[in-house]
Parts: sequence; structure tokens; C-alpha cells
Amino acid sequence: MDARGMEDSEWDELQRNLLATIPVYDRINRFATLGQVSRWRRIVRDLLPSGRVLEIGCGPGSFAEDVSGHDLVCLDPIPEMLISAEERVNSARSSRGDPPAEFIEGTAEDLPFEDNSFDAVCSLFSFRDWFDKKAGLEESLRVLRPGAPLIIVDPSKMNRIHGFLGVLLMKVWVGTYARIICGEKEHPWKWLTKTYKEFGTTRDYVKMIGDCGFEDVKARVIFPGMATIWSARSPSE
Ligand SMILES: C[S@@+](CC[C@H](N)C(=O)[O-])C[C@H]1O[C@@H](n2cnc3c(N)ncnc32)[C@H](O)[C@@H]1O
Repeated sequence: MDARGMEDSEWDELQRNLLATIPVYDRINRFATLGQVSRWRRIVRDLLPSGRVLEIGCGPGSFAEDVSGHDLVCLDPIPEMLISAEERVNSARSSRGDPPAEFIEGTAEDLPFEDNSFDAVCSLFSFRDWFDKKAGLEESLRVLRPGAPLIIVDPSKMNRIHGFLGVLLMKVWVGTYARIICGEKEHPWKWLTKTYKEFGTTRDYVKMIGDCGFEDVKARVIFPGMATIWSARSPSE
């Protein structure tokens, strides 16, 4: 399982691929998830308590755009992602009368925030890419206030057969569409298949989240079986 982390060269390559997804990210994501991604994001938004929320791996702002009524901090290691997200998210926030969100460059593994400074931490379609998931989970726990939730969404892999079907879907369904939309054979969604292949099972991460010190760890595979929502809480005082 990929808890071993990623080589520096793989991390650089992954970042280059993620950068290349920016112009077509939402279009391909909607297609890949059969239009379900908006519903999954809404489920996460409904789980957020009021207060200060951190999204780790905000990408171009696809989730953050619709987070309303919270103090929002968006973190990503890629400056260009933060630039696209800031424009999109803060213009949506200003039209709703929400104060601007903050955009911070950094990684899950080394969060540039004080201990006990967030009422929730969420991460959608980013956990799979964290180069050291245990370190990222421990950091998430450190910055959460006692009893506050962690919510993670990423592709599900219930077992080896489900994983095999997931790889097939990504290669054939998503891969073909991405090749057409990007107009090139070496499109960045090839990395989705690679990181998914190396990703552990839904249960592996229930265990890892618990081992990192979270309580009340749950995983729910959401319709139509393509994604999992992991939820947990930092220990209450
Ligand atoms: C696919 S985008 C997700 C965008 C958005 N969260 C959404 O709901 O669609 C994944 C983002 O995670 C970021 N990421 C990758 N590894 C990370 C890490 N170790 N720490 C923080 N963010 C990371 C990437 O730079 C990328 O922008």
C-alpha cells in the first residue's frame, strides 16, 4: 500500500500532471463520475459544522466554490491551482455576501497552521495523492479542535475485484474521454489510474485514520460505488 510515500521524482511528475488538468478538470470529472460528483460534494458540505473549515488540496476550487457560511481556508501545493481557485471561490463568496476565503500554499504533510485552529478539515479527491498519508492525517488531527470532524472523499476500492473494475473504468471510460477532450494520447488522467492502482482499500484507510488517533472512524461507499466518504472526529477533551 502507498503509505510508504512517494519518490520526489514521482511527486514532481504528479504535480505537473495535476497542473495540466486545470482547464478541463470539472468537465472530465463530471463525465468520469456520471454526474454524481456534485451530489458527493453536497453531502460533504452538509456534514460541515459552522466555524473555520480547512480544505486540503482545493485544486481549482470545485468544492470550495459552494462552501457557504463558513470561514474557509483552502490549501494546495500548486500555486497555479490557488490562483484559479481564489478567483473562482472569492467571486462566488462575494456574490453571496460571504467574507473572502484564504488561499495558502502548502501540503497536508506539513500544515502551516496552529494546533486546534479548525472546526473541520476536509479533503476531496486529494488524499490519494498525499505523498505521506499518515503524516497528513496526523497533521489534520493536530490542527483540529477537540471533537471536530475530518471528512475525506476519494475513489473507493472495496476489494481486489472492485479495484480491478475501477482501473478498467478509469482506463477505458475516463481515459478515452480525456484523450478526446485533451487532444493528446499522453493526457494527465493517466495519473488517475496510476494513483488509484497504488491506493489502498477503503478499509485500509479506516484503520490508518484510527491508528493516527481519530475516533468514531466510519467509511461509506456512496452511489454508484465509485467513491468513499471517510469521516472521523478528533478526540474530545
Ligand atoms: C484533483 S484536485 C481536487 C480538487 C478539489 N478538492 C475537488 O473537490 O475537486 C487534487 C488537489 O490535491 C492537491 N494535492 C496533491 N497532493 C497534495 C498534498 N500532499 N497536500 C495537499 N494537497 C495536495 C493537488 O495539488 C490538487 O490540486
